[in-house]
Amino acid sequence: MTRHRKLSPGKLVIASHNQGKVREIRALLAPFGIEPVSAGELGLPEPEETGTSFAENALLKANVSAQGANCVALADDSGLCVTALNGAPGVYTADWAEADIFEGGPGRDWYMAMGKVEGKLAELGPGTDRSAHFICTLALAWPDGHTEIFEGRANGNLVWPPRGTLGFGYDPVFQPDGFEQTFAELDPKQKHEMSHRADAFSKLVKACFD
Ligand code: IMP
Repeated sequence: MTRHRKLSPGKLVIASHNQGKVREIRALLAPFGIEPVSAGELGLPEPEETGTSFAENALLKANVSAQGANCVALADDSGLCVTALNGAPGVYTADWAEADIFEGGPGRDWYMAMGKVEGKLAELGPGTDRSAHFICTLALAWPDGHTEIFEGRANGNLVWPPRGTLGFGYDPVFQPDGFEQTFAELDPKQKHEMSHRADAFSKLVKACFD
């Protein structure tokens, strides 16, 4: 049986500059009495995500924050994998949203990114498989170099046009299996019960909390 290092109460940095993710991770950590600070709040650098897998990128981000803040850091690398697009955008999910001009300057335009996915599905013609899944890989890194990694998944289908205003990223086009609503229409509490992030988080909790 794998032995995991336990997380003791105290300072924890969320190694992310993405407000949507930070909000969700805060909510997931709240029941454990952990009040995290984010890498953004501490002014820590945002490393370039040069990895070719979710795990590589999550470890990269967690290690940079653990070293920068000298405490345990938790990173999330996640993305949308579309079956008919051979798993794309996958690790490049955030890159598909990069826009030269968005709200006055370079930024991430999620509606453009969702349109790009839809455009590629449309090119494949009617009757194309619209199934997709979200992956979330959580990495914990300690300042002494120890790391732990957990992966979660949520299966569903892509809808068009986008629906709902809650959540973040690609939530308005993702309808999880067993639900009529998209992630962006569901109450955040419901999303936190069955999302890819919640799945990865429950594995982390089993392994690293007493
Ligand atoms: P990264 O992990 O920073 O590379 O970014 C992954 C991207 O995947 C995010 O910026 C979101 O656009 C998307 N993503 C990850 N998790 C979710 C989610 O729960 N809902 C919607 N989009 C998500």
